[in-house]
Amino acid sequence: MRDVAVIGIGCTTFGERWEDSFRQLFVEAGTLALEDAQVSGEQIDALYVGNMSAGRFIEQEHIGALIADYAGMATGHVPSTRVEAACASGGLAFRQAVIAVASGMEDIVVAAGVEKMTDVGTGVSVDALAGAADREWEGSVGATFPGLYAMIATDYMNRYPLSREQLAMVAVKNHHHGSMNPIAQFQNEITVDTVLRSSLVADPLRLYDCSPITDGAAAVILAPLERAREFTDTPVKVLATTQASDTLTLHDRRDISTIDATVAAGNRAFDMAGLSREDIDLVEVHDCFTIAEILAIEDLGFCGKGTGGTFTEEGETTLGGRIPVNTSGGLKACGHPVGATGIKQVWEVVTQLRGEAGRRQVDGAMIGMTHNVGGTGATVAVHVLGRCD
Ligand code: COA
Repeated sequence: MRDVAVIGIGCTTFGERWEDSFRQLFVEAGTLALEDAQVSGEQIDALYVGNMSAGRFIEQEHIGALIADYAGMATGHVPSTRVEAACASGGLAFRQAVIAVASGMEDIVVAAGVEKMTDVGTGVSVDALAGAADREWEGSVGATFPGLYAMIATDYMNRYPLSREQLAMVAVKNHHHGSMNPIAQFQNEITVDTVLRSSLVADPLRLYDCSPITDGAAAVILAPLERAREFTDTPVKVLATTQASDTLTLHDRRDISTIDATVAAGNRAFDMAGLSREDIDLVEVHDCFTIAEILAIEDLGFCGKGTGGTFTEEGETTLGGRIPVNTSGGLKACGHPVGATGIKQVWEVVTQLRGEAGRRQVDGAMIGMTHNVGGTGATVAVHVLGRCD
């Protein structure tokens, strides 16, 4: 395998982008990434695009072709592939692009993600998202994602010492980080009280425990490491790419308070990169709900099982703490355009490793990790990225 580097990144602002269409969002992110890498469209060998549910959200399928067309690459016949793995679509698109370059099959490749969710109402949106769970066993009996994660939170809180306040602190911390991120959907600070007084969505999860419904797109450009400096002085090396699966339904899991696919993908990533937990300077985890961040930091091994609440309360996951988690604001504050999130996580880590994160910069960041989950943990993608000094 060849070593692979990220040579350019681009991300739209996340939020309710009612003025812009799906294709405009993609073109905006792609153009930013191409300009950043100083690469022209003619140099692109392939596109991999993460998208979960354009069919439900904007009644458009055949997204690979649409993207190639609106990126101006259709008449050049550039191969363009949609990658779908629910909320992990972006992470898997990145992984497919890495594999394509590592194999020697393709050289300069775009990995992107895009989702336009707010053109439909919350009901349609929540139902489309429920397609990432098992429609026969879960969706058909009314189990939506807030409901499924509420079950996880209930089980966890019955077995481990996690207080309602500690859960709220995950959202408070992510809104704090998001307040320093110009692309974030929510750039306002909140308090524990804001979370506890917000409306109940699925007990014990409240509005501020949930990631929102979001429009947005992100894109990154990959190249073989040996060619990276033709394009940029600050290439970022891909140190590991891993993926793991688990049962689609929650009730078939060994233990619903542990995401085994995160444990597997995380362990494989540390092995592949030849690194330990202490080597990681920051991590973007999949906090679709506050409880999901608690599970992620434990299952990736940054703290022990059952200690995620205390670890968060002690400030270890905040900027300046032992392992800053979700400096972008995470899914909670940055927003969660489902197909784009995995690429936005890479965008944030690369921004940090280049030292370009402004007020939310992790001092001296050398190595970062991303963790992207599909469904309640049936698909997990983990990546490790490192500076090339
Ligand atoms: N956090 C903070 N504020 C939020 C929010 C969130 N997650 N979601 C919406 N809001 C705000 C809106 O900005 C709006 O504020 P305003 O009145 O000041 O403009 C207000 O709350 C109402 O927004 P609305 O869009 O009507 O919310 P809603 O009740 O329709 O939807 C949820 C709220 C929680 C149901 C919805 O965001 C949701 O389903 N989130 C989970 C998404 C999900 O499952 N993703 C996949 C995970 S695997």
